[in-house]
Amino acid sequence: MAKVSHILVCQNVDCRVRGSDQVMKALSLQLAEKGRRDITVKSYMCFGACQAGPNMVFYPERTWYAGVRLSDVDAIVDHVMGGPKVEALEGKVDPALRELIYQLLDAGLF
Ligand code: FES
Repeated sequence: MAKVSHILVCQNVDCRVRGSDQVMKALSLQLAEKGRRDITVKSYMCFGACQAGPNMVFYPERTWYAGVRLSDVDAIVDHVMGGPKVEALEGKVDPALRELIYQLLDAGLF
């Protein structure tokens, strides 16, 4: 499995009204506290899965978490630190859309 270098967090309207800004800030803070400067937490304009948000994508690992809440951040950080994926946040988005977004990211569009 490819290592995580970027965690992209949607900051468009639908995800923001559900708290994606607070999620991104908390995630950035916790990863900084753990010394994970090798990982960039970055905003993303919109993944096109707005109703499933807040959405975040781990790249190049290709993990997609949807419906992320502030209370999920600890488990997400555990995953980043080598723990298990947060299964409850996976599988909520159409596989074809996920593949399209991964291809855009592979093309450098982030
Ligand atoms: S608003 Fe977040 S995926 Fe579109």
